[in-house]
Amino acid sequence: MPAKYTVLITSTSFNKIDPLPRERLIQHGCKIVDNPFNRPLKENDLIPLLKDVDGVIAGLDEYTRKAIFSSKKLKVISRYGVGLDNINLEAAEERGILVVNTPEVNTQAVTDLTFGLMLAVCRKIPQAHMSTQKGEWGRFIGRGVYKKSIGIVGLGRIGKAVADRAKGFSMDILAYDIKKDEISSQTQGIHFLPLDELLAKGDFITLHCDLNPGSKGIIGVRELALMKKTAYLINTARGGLIDEKALFETLRDGKIAGAAIDTFQDEPPVGSPLLTLDNILTTPHIGSYTHDALLEMGLIAVDNLIQYLGKE
Ligand code: DGY
Repeated sequence: MPAKYTVLITSTSFNKIDPLPRERLIQHGCKIVDNPFNRPLKENDLIPLLKDVDGVIAGLDEYTRKAIFSSKKLKVISRYGVGLDNINLEAAEERGILVVNTPEVNTQAVTDLTFGLMLAVCRKIPQAHMSTQKGEWGRFIGRGVYKKSIGIVGLGRIGKAVADRAKGFSMDILAYDIKKDEISSQTQGIHFLPLDELLAKGDFITLHCDLNPGSKGIIGVRELALMKKTAYLINTARGGLIDEKALFETLRDGKIAGAAIDTFQDEPPVGSPLLTLDNILTTPHIGSYTHDALLEMGLIAVDNLIQYLGKE
């Protein structure tokens, strides 16, 4: 039977967990084109691959205006994940291409990682592990999380889940968002503050906002200077939210206690000076990397794509 649709899979983790999402595409008559590079694609990699496809299961690749306009038949970009900052939405709209994502499914996975990073960075768990493995028994003295204050920048789905987890640590929960959520404020004991005040008060500052022109570089030289010398910055959202040069200088000069960073401006952050510091903990954008979240993301991304192509 000839294939009904040709689908490009650019996400690098889509095939890693379970064959089910891929099998579902095939059952629905899709011919699959795989990402030949096994890394997020740059605009120039994408252009030849997009030429003849009807749909894509998209990762963190560069879906720029030029890439989108180069496609002849593309009808749907089904984002395997929640963030849409790597897709030029205006260009997609102009071309009549539907862009869909998988909100909700990675919320708990990203929240778990946020707390994992917070605990690991302030208790120096990676350093302690390395030391024990080397037979050195280095007993590092860290800082605690219990009853400390957490400043959540961006109180959307993930920000709220982080607030909920923070209650288990009896933390004082502070939040900044462009829109104050009155209900969370009244019912969840979350104190909304202006960003500057939150930065000055938080023992942990954790970023959970979208990357868009308004939030790009939201944490720069001035904002880092407002943070306590004993505070930690956690970023499991998007690298572009932080001015990385400013963060490097702040950490190098010991102006904050540390940072834990899962997302970078350029991924992978090859040659970044941040990787040379010992008061930073880094991970390779693994917020949604749990078996449960990835499988669910895969199935929903496939269903979104098939549903739309089926309507054509
Ligand atoms: C997301 O869902 O946007 C995550 O960052 C992984 O793609």
